Amino acid sequence: MTSFTYSAGPARVVFGSGTIAALPDEVARLDASRALFIGTRRTEPAYAALGPLAVARFENPTMHTPVEVTEKALAVLREHNVDCLVAVGGGSAIGLAKALALRTDLPQIVVPTTYAGSEATPVLGQTADGKKTTIRNPAVLPETIVYDVDLTMGLPANLSVTSGINAMAHAVEALYSPDANPIVDQLALDAIRRLARALPNIVSDPKDRAAREDLLQAAWLAGTCLGSVSMGLHHKLAHMLGGTFGLPHSETHTVLLPHVMAYMAPAAMDRIADALGVGDAPTGVYDLVVDLGGPTSLKELGMTEQQLDTVDEYRQVLDEAWRGDRPQQTGVPDVGKLTQQVVNTMQGDNPRTRELLQDLVRTLHAYVVRNDLTESEWMHAISFLTRTGQITTETRQEFILLSDTLGISSVVDVLSNSRTPDTTPSAVLGPFYTEGPPEREHGYDIAEGLPGMPVWADVQVVDTHGKPVADAIVDVWQSNEDGFYDVQLPDLDGPVLRARFRTDADGRLRYWSIVPVSYPIPDDGPVGEMLRAAARHPHRAPHMHFMIAKPGFHKLITQLFVRGGDYLDSDAVFGVKDDLIVDFPEQHGPTPDGREVSRWSRLDFVFRVTEGQ
Ligand code: BEZ
Ligand code: FE
Repeated sequence: MTSFTYSAGPARVVFGSGTIAALPDEVARLDASRALFIGTRRTEPAYAALGPLAVARFENPTMHTPVEVTEKALAVLREHNVDCLVAVGGGSAIGLAKALALRTDLPQIVVPTTYAGSEATPVLGQTADGKKTTIRNPAVLPETIVYDVDLTMGLPANLSVTSGINAMAHAVEALYSPDANPIVDQLALDAIRRLARALPNIVSDPKDRAAREDLLQAAWLAGTCLGSVSMGLHHKLAHMLGGTFGLPHSETHTVLLPHVMAYMAPAAMDRIADALGVGDAPTGVYDLVVDLGGPTSLKELGMTEQQLDTVDEYRQVLDEAWRGDRPQQTGVPDVGKLTQQVVNTMQGDNPRTRELLQDLVRTLHAYVVRNDLTESEWMHAISFLTRTGQITTETRQEFILLSDTLGISSVVDVLSNSRTPDTTPSAVLGPFYTEGPPEREHGYDIAEGLPGMPVWADVQVVDTHGKPVADAIVDVWQSNEDGFYDVQLPDLDGPVLRARFRTDADGRLRYWSIVPVSYPIPDDGPVGEMLRAAARHPHRAPHMHFMIAKPGFHKLITQLFVRGGDYLDSDAVFGVKDDLIVDFPEQHGPTPDGREVSRWSRLDFVFRVTEGQ
């Protein structure tokens, strides 16, 4: 059972290109008309867009939102009788707007120009006397966020990279947060997907508009994640390093992320790896940062070994991050290369053989990887298959039994049925068919007087237009009253309960047998071992087998099941199909051929076969 609580932020988001032109309207929407503009000289176009609505301007927002700077801005704000805040820029401008909103309750419109995501979080970090404190308060959430891709076009590639990985860190942490929820999970995975595909494009072309759009959307999604769920170890370490040693914010996030991911090895790692398009998430992030030319060690960010020595917590993670080692792969190593190498060796002239072998390799490798198979487990499997081969003889086909009990025979059968939808459904052959059964005349008792409820079978073979199919060869076989086939009873003299008939001009044939009963499939070999390990019973629902062949027609191999019989809904080989369940009604009165029996049943059935090879 998954339980969660989800609270959505109330912000209005305007996303697009040239959206700063909407700033005056957005100010009016807030019933305001006197804005304090917060932003450096580089944000001139946004200032210009506000026109006379900007009654004051504050150009010096500072990293980590020092309280002294906030006080100065407060003075400007009061002096001009401001009724709203418009902040354009990165974390510093937005941080200042939040700090002012906290103190004045003024509404905020923010226009982010980096990918830090702060605009979507109720979090504010401030510094006073060199000490950083972080508060979480919905009062600091901006009323309106205006994303304008145009303002991000000039963000240098290196800043885009670290800012983008910073956003990725928000998304990654949201996925293993204790208060994760399905909405935030989807936002986080989408953010990771967009970042992984857009960042390399930005490095090769910082003006790639589609990539810029992806990044800005990812930043919003990741910021929303950061604002919706609590953050964990990654953010704790990043803030500790930033606060204690003054390391730069987004660069520190960039270096730390792969190491913290490897350390946490969270359950969400597979989903993260999928979103990144790699086999292993932590090494995938590390390799991405290397490819993007981003920083990989705390050392290169200026942290000294002496500083590192003052930290006692999480030393292993921090040592690795300090040196910039490629993280150890978590969970299972990436065998993609090896798999591809083996797949490439599967060539040959027959394209179908090649395709089947190549996919067999992929499927088996993936199985081993997904289940983290150990050597002894694999040896167990090999020994199981060896014993399956060793127990197989002319009359005991353990491999077919294995295929049947794994449901593979039925899957193949379902596929082949779907190719001939107008015919009687087929069913598995089973291991007890023998080539060349004895040919019998109509009316023969294939039970040869063995005990059991006599049944008069009157069946017809027709084509898909209902036309009788004469001269079809119909092989029938079934078990005796104790559930054994003749081939399982070495003392038995000759074939019994199996025969070959030929349909007459009406496509019909008639014979005596006995009503089948349920029976256990042979479970004294490896297959039985498997059934017991899986707590499964070995029984088959009561049935008769038929194989119908005629040149020019598809061969039909099928079974008829006794309605009301045991195990119809838990057949050990998954062979039962509704259309194959038939009545064997008990009869009163004389038998069709005058045979004297005290009780008897009938089986009437029409098999439909189709032309083809
Ligand atoms: C059978 O019906 O004869 C059978 C089919 C599959 C596995 C074992 C037995
Ligand atoms: Fe059978």
